[in-house]
Amino acid sequence: MARFPIADFNELRTPFYFYDLSLLDRTLAEIKRTARDANFKVHYAIKANANPGILRRIQAAGLGVDAVSGGEILAATEAGFDGSKIVYAGVGKSDDEIRLALDKGIGCFNVESLPELEAIAAIATELGVKAPVAFRVNPNIDAHTHEYITTGLSENKFGIDLELLPGVLDAASKLDSIRIKGLHFHIGSQITENEPFVMLCDTINRLVDEYAAKGIRFDTINVGGGLGIDYADPDRHPIPDFETYFKTFRNHLRLRPDQEVHFELGRSVVAQCGSLITRVLYVKEGLSKRFAIVDAGMTELIRPALYNAHHKIENISSPAGEMHHYDVVGPICESSDCFGKDELLPSVRRGDFLALRSAGAYGEIMASQYNCRPLPMSYFFET
Ligand code: LLP
Repeated sequence: MARFPIADFNELRTPFYFYDLSLLDRTLAEIKRTARDANFKVHYAIKANANPGILRRIQAAGLGVDAVSGGEILAATEAGFDGSKIVYAGVGKSDDEIRLALDKGIGCFNVESLPELEAIAAIATELGVKAPVAFRVNPNIDAHTHEYITTGLSENKFGIDLELLPGVLDAASKLDSIRIKGLHFHIGSQITENEPFVMLCDTINRLVDEYAAKGIRFDTINVGGGLGIDYADPDRHPIPDFETYFKTFRNHLRLRPDQEVHFELGRSVVAQCGSLITRVLYVKEGLSKRFAIVDAGMTELIRPALYNAHHKIENISSPAGEMHHYDVVGPICESSDCFGKDELLPSVRRGDFLALRSAGAYGEIMASQYNCRPLPMSYFFET
């Protein structure tokens, strides 16, 4: 079990996010060590967590950013990221967002359709600049992950189908305000096997060869994100296996020496450094069940309600008590507002603090104000 400064928690209004910055720093150091190749560029997928305290650390470690909205571009630049280190994806970029991206000197647009390419070209012409673009290709690879977070299958709204790519490339080569940089892929999230990444490399190699034969070269290959984490046992794997992940691309991608590989990692960078801390409001005895009703709900952490995800729950106030089963539920008026059914926990009492672990990614950033609840606060600690 991770150690938490419980005595300090008594002063704080729950629920709140609690971030271990030392673990974040160790994770970033491991990314630097394992993605050591000069042509590997790691972009942090800011959608996972845009808390300024987290962003400053990631910026200081030298990563770039992967953004999917104007708001994310602003959050990144406010945290000190240079526009040229930001790549910008998304199927629905508005004109204002495209203008903002060009104003900030965006490193690359990851373009998802022909009409989007035309809109970017028109706005770039109007501003008198050249827009760097990569084309997001839908590689039709099954990432073996939850259907809501798989993105690389062909019946998906993301990316350009492989068969349609030649037409889009041809159109782009005729647009003066467009500079073609490369190809972009993303097959899904929370991928815990290596095989989908190997398949992605094989697909990329085939495509790059096919286009090289036609005289078209790509300077950048963006492989997206998706590396999964250990939700079941965060203390056994506090830092994901970046060594194997980057090695897969080093060994399987056939690259020209001057070709860059871009990565867009979100969850694997920040998930394990964050916990949602909540207080037990009531222990309610049902006929056949015992409920631990806590003051956090799907408003603070929506992943269990939305994806059936499970975050490890710990009783950090009384870790040594007798074990009992509880349904751990929140206060929101929805029956999906449940963090765990039949959780085996050391005896829970009113006022105990529980930690929902591995909540640093897609936790705080997805919080809502449903039921007119305030957004959660966040606190940091370092060892
Ligand atoms: N690049 C693109 C184009 C993406 O769409 C995503 C995530 C990433 C990179 C980062 O993927 P990661 O390394 O974090 O797996 N809210 C969901 C996850 C949604 C992921 C959306 N796209 C969850 O809580 O599981």
